[in-house]
Amino acid sequence: MTCAKRAGIVGVGSAVPDRVLTNFDLEKMVDTSDEWIRTMTGISERRIASEGEATSDFALKAGKAAIENAGLSPQDIDLIILATFTGDTPLPATACLVQHALGCEGTPAFDLAAGCSGFVYGLAVADAFVRSGHYERVLVIGADMLSCVTNWTDRSTCVLFGDGAGAAVVAPVNGDAGFLAFELGADGSGAKHLHIPAGGSRHPYTPEDLAQHRDKIVMEGREVFKFAVKIQGEATERVLARCGMTTADVDMIIPHQANTRIIESAVNRLGLPTEKFFVNLNKYGNTSAASIPIALDEAVAEGKIKKGDTVVTVGFGAGLTWAAGVMKWAY
Ligand code: UT7
Repeated sequence: MTCAKRAGIVGVGSAVPDRVLTNFDLEKMVDTSDEWIRTMTGISERRIASEGEATSDFALKAGKAAIENAGLSPQDIDLIILATFTGDTPLPATACLVQHALGCEGTPAFDLAAGCSGFVYGLAVADAFVRSGHYERVLVIGADMLSCVTNWTDRSTCVLFGDGAGAAVVAPVNGDAGFLAFELGADGSGAKHLHIPAGGSRHPYTPEDLAQHRDKIVMEGREVFKFAVKIQGEATERVLARCGMTTADVDMIIPHQANTRIIESAVNRLGLPTEKFFVNLNKYGNTSAASIPIALDEAVAEGKIKKGDTVVTVGFGAGLTWAAGVMKWAY
């Protein structure tokens, strides 16, 4: 199907909890040190939700901010996609709670599960819907509250994660702005490297599972690290090639914020200066599906992304999944 206009991002927003958990706080909880965490991950602190807060609270704030940034009202949105694996409850989709809180009754809304790649998966779905003419303005939110699926006694994972949400409004854009290409991928053979063992249809919770923290994230960090280093560079190069570009054409890369050593590997592989990689994980840790849209929102707010810039978003995560997108910034 051909279409008159490309789709692109016309507004961004984000929201994080007020509560800060520093590396020094973690030193009091598990056998770790600020120096180990900063050297091995680049993280200094992260935001953690307070009692009573849930994923939809941050998703709603980020979504509202993106809609306002786009100069729209919630009633202008005709589809809501929420990338998350930490919804308020297993049923219904948390996107429906956000839809109701936004006051857009009747607007279709669904959750999308692709781990930390979820936001870029969501952008690709929104792009297809807008270009096909099925929907005109799609709100894509990436929100996760990893604190509720973190084993706070496991030092190999609890130092990594944080909570938050980011969002973008996708709509038709003028000229040569908008999305140019996406690459989505998955390798289910790596599912075992990053998962929550209990709580689904395969293995409903038992009291023993809860006692052994099998309702929390279990990760083979080394395996995910190797995968991330490989796929981040490869997916970036392939998605650029799909639209006839090379790394030389890129103005800004917004990588998934998991580990500065993973981002540095992309700096080396792609041969771009570090200033072309936006990094804010020192403040937030790994916020899963929220990491890329929070970074995107901050990069735009700091004037690091301007109209006409070529921007690449690239993520990887549980699945194992990956997703990369290239766009010309529209505003
Ligand atoms: O969004 C996608 C999800 N995940 C990721 O992107 C994570 C990818 N993986 C990573 O970022 C890294 O694998 C980690 C940062 C998690 C770990 O780094 P690593 O280089 O793979 O270290 P390691 O797990 O092999 O651990 C090295 C040492 C071990 O001690 P020994 O066996 O050498 O004595 C660990 O026990 O560091 C120890 N260690 C810690 N020490 C202090 C592990 N966690 C900690 C800690 N504090 N928090």
